[in-house]
Amino acid sequence: MLRALLVAPPGAGKGTQGERLADIYGVPHLSTGELLRAEVAKRSKIGLDVESFMHRGDLVPDELMAPLLLGYLTGPEPLSGFVLDGFPRTAEQAELAHQWGLASGITFNAVISLDVPAEELVERLVRRGSEVSRSDDTIETIRLRQQVYAKSTEPLLEYYRGRVILIEVDGTGTVDEVTRRIRE
Ligand code: AP5
Ligand code: MG
Repeated sequence: MLRALLVAPPGAGKGTQGERLADIYGVPHLSTGELLRAEVAKRSKIGLDVESFMHRGDLVPDELMAPLLLGYLTGPEPLSGFVLDGFPRTAEQAELAHQWGLASGITFNAVISLDVPAEELVERLVRRGSEVSRSDDTIETIRLRQQVYAKSTEPLLEYYRGRVILIEVDGTGTVDEVTRRIRE
């Protein structure tokens, strides 16, 4: 059963590859960004609380993020497999994921990171911003999301490399090529 975490910068293809891996391995794809955007669209209490953080490209505080995600992971039927996209994003969240794994007897089999040059990431997101409406796909917000990733999330790769479950994949080329590399 696949239990994978996707840790990669904005635009690297977490959502694109996460969906495909989830289909291939028959597990749910859980994207924290998608879960949060769904709350914003519903105008729920948590949606209203997180909207401004997302709009400016900052991380949503853990006290809002963690209960939402844990609700999906643990729910009435705890998930035995999943592709988790966009969590953990900080050392605190990595610790939370670790504690949750210990408490539920679940280990992660793979942390997948996708490597894409910064200029290509910006191009992809600017292109998406012109096609789909995501309020954080403006050039200023893309830059801030990149800075937040470099400061808070990228250091996690070292942590997972040390735990020998990090799989580093070249995220450039076609979507099919990237999927093939991950599966290999
Ligand atoms: P989130 O939704 O996770 O956004 P992100 O990390 O900025 O990443 P994206 O979703 O923009 O990109 P992606 O890596 O999924 O790439 P995609 O496949 O879409 O988070 C949004 C916000 O929510 C955060 O800023 C934060 O506020 C909050 N949040 C989320 N998780 C949180 C957490 N754990 N803690 C606190 N806050 C949290 O691809 C991008 C584009 O490129 C698409 O148009 C796609 O079609 C295209 N593309 C994909 N692959 C290729 C390819 N191989 N070649 C060419 N184009 C490609
Ligand atoms: Mg995404």
